[in-house]
Amino acid sequence: MKTKHIPVLADESIHYLINKESGVYVDCTLGTGGHFTKISENTNKDAILIGLDADQKAIEYCQKNLDIPQKHFFINTNFKNLKKYCYRHGYLDVSGILMDLGMSSFALDDAKRGFSYDKSGPLDMRFSKDQKTTAAEFINTAEPEELREVLQKYGEVRRPSAIVNGILEHRSSKKIETTTELKQIIARRTPYRLRKKILSQVFQAIRIKINNELEILEKALEQALQLLEPEGRLVVISYHSLEDRIVKHFFKEKAKDCICPPEFPICKCDHQQEVEILTSSPKTPSQEEIDKNPRARSAKLRVIEKL
Ligand SMILES: C[S@@+](CC[C@H](N)C(=O)[O-])C[C@H]1O[C@@H](n2cnc3c(N)ncnc32)[C@H](O)[C@@H]1O
Repeated sequence: MKTKHIPVLADESIHYLINKESGVYVDCTLGTGGHFTKISENTNKDAILIGLDADQKAIEYCQKNLDIPQKHFFINTNFKNLKKYCYRHGYLDVSGILMDLGMSSFALDDAKRGFSYDKSGPLDMRFSKDQKTTAAEFINTAEPEELREVLQKYGEVRRPSAIVNGILEHRSSKKIETTTELKQIIARRTPYRLRKKILSQVFQAIRIKINNELEILEKALEQALQLLEPEGRLVVISYHSLEDRIVKHFFKEKAKDCICPPEFPICKCDHQQEVEILTSSPKTPSQEEIDKNPRARSAKLRVIEKL
């Protein structure tokens, strides 16, 4: 862990998240605890704070470096287990849940994690060592069609075939094991002016695939809603258009009374509105925040309140 992560949209997320000072709050993506510390500073001594992270190193960092006066728990788990762990600790209703998706700067800057094309290291990219498949295993075994689909869908790479062919050619003689090898394959097949963008897109696509990020997000949103008490809030910060779309659709659906197709003359779904959307359009960082922390540039914050 090298770099301390600067929390994105910190004031805005806390402003929305905290509806009562003595509530139970869950930070599903603890990282180095920037948001968690802010939650602590904005709640009173009776609040209970729970921080989850799939990354054992993030948990160790927070255990060592955070000074939280309230009763709190740091739990090393994927947030797909959000409900299970809250129940296990006896918290069946919570006042606020935060998800600040993706990975933190310290994981990105740790060459051994393999997230960054700028750092030479093993092609790992797992948020947690408990996950079986590394990025290298995926890259070396996936069918060409799957590689193409992952790059196109999760990375929005416009023309993935050249890169996929490069991967196939390389792996037919030698396994791709490091970030540098993958970077060179991509660099050789992309025009110089687009290189950085395409490198980011490909690395991001593989990370999303390896960590099953979109499916897990869908499951976790559902659990979060079930855990919230009336007037409890769910705050989600996303950095990728597909993540934001999932969050937006989930919020919209839960804010509607009827989800029947528009051609139905009368409602047959019995769906009931469960939440109110507090951000009619997503909140984004100011230019000042982006200048200080370029990683914030693609952030979108959306919030719902349970009825
Ligand atoms: C953007 S960082 C959060 C930074 C944090 N808000 C802070 O202020 O330091 C995202 C964190 O979420 C963790 N993470 C991502 N997906 C996760 C998941 N499905 N379950 C649990 N943790 C996850 C990553 O390991 C990373 O530490």
